[in-house]
Amino acid sequence: MSAAPKANPPIRTLLGPGPSPVSPRVLAALSLPVVGHLDPKFLEIMDQSMAMLRELFQTKNRLALPMSGTGSAGMETCFVNLLEPGDTVLIGVNGVFGTRMVDVAQRCGAQADTVDAEWGSALDAQNFKTALAQKKYKLVAVVHAETSTGVLQPLDDIAKLVHENGALLLVDAVTSLGGAPVRVDELGIDACYSGTQKCLGCPPGLSPVTFNERAVEVIRKRKTKVQSWYLDLSMIEKYWGSERVYHHTAPISMNYALHEALRAVLEEGLEASWQRHKQTHDVFVRAMRKLEIEPAVAEAIRAPMINAIKIPEGADDATVRTRLYDDFNIEIGAGLGPLKGKIWRVGLMGHGARVENVETLSQALKQLIQ
Ligand SMILES: Cc1ncc(COP(=O)(O)O)c(C=O)c1O
Repeated sequence: MSAAPKANPPIRTLLGPGPSPVSPRVLAALSLPVVGHLDPKFLEIMDQSMAMLRELFQTKNRLALPMSGTGSAGMETCFVNLLEPGDTVLIGVNGVFGTRMVDVAQRCGAQADTVDAEWGSALDAQNFKTALAQKKYKLVAVVHAETSTGVLQPLDDIAKLVHENGALLLVDAVTSLGGAPVRVDELGIDACYSGTQKCLGCPPGLSPVTFNERAVEVIRKRKTKVQSWYLDLSMIEKYWGSERVYHHTAPISMNYALHEALRAVLEEGLEASWQRHKQTHDVFVRAMRKLEIEPAVAEAIRAPMINAIKIPEGADDATVRTRLYDDFNIEIGAGLGPLKGKIWRVGLMGHGARVENVETLSQALKQLIQ
């Protein structure tokens, strides 16, 4: 067989649900020389990334490291390590990723119950209170920024209830980390996972996770082996910790990219990064209103980094998105599940969270819908 032509992807403005635009400095990090995964220089980079991840997660947890794999690998890491067959778990479901959590928990042999809310609304803490009063749960899991709907879930009340009931709290921060506060220690989040391709401005490929000592203790006391060899934290922590025992070959180049992306966030300042996401979101909402396009989510629970907007009457969903690709090289996201055909999802994440991207998209949409 002859070789296929060289890959020649277009340069898109990535304003969808992820991946987000990757800055030149992070792209450059991907082409740094590859060294061995036990090379002392690589081990230094690993330690630095762990320290920087602690800052992003706002935690003093010893265990803060990037799992090899995308955000879903982080999700699985949390469930497979914390749950054993027969365990009870309560999961907030108001979009795709809550639904995915239920599937993952069930695959661990756990009994998964749900607290549901309409897609596009937040989960109600009162419903967690009711559920927690009725049954003892080992783990409660919620998605912080539900990428499929654009909702930023308030966590304070749920965190309090979970801990009053002696359960562990697991939070999906795939889309929120770096773009909004993820207060792991302050809220007592016991386990948290994220992804590189959203507000960290990195390509997809790693999933930062953090576990506090309470969660680590639960893992230590397991009666059964973690069902996944690859995601078993007791082995992975021996590679990322002082023992440096080989587990799998770390994706070296992606780790360089994450290291550089974390440096970029911390050089800007974590709070400044949150503010930039919020300010860009505010500019976006105003720009859309000028085009008579309304946000699909109530103001108090809007995720600044993933903006759900109502598709205006008369605009054809698929045609507009195709023309954004073909004529403007812009990607935005479609609605999913019950929101299909009703909303567009505009990601203003990481390096992409800037006013010029809002202007570029507004001008394109203006031509396409008016
Ligand atoms: C909130 C949330 N959780 C989990 C995931 C899964 O991450 P990945 O697609 O990187 O596996 C995503 C991906 O978009 C997400 O947005």
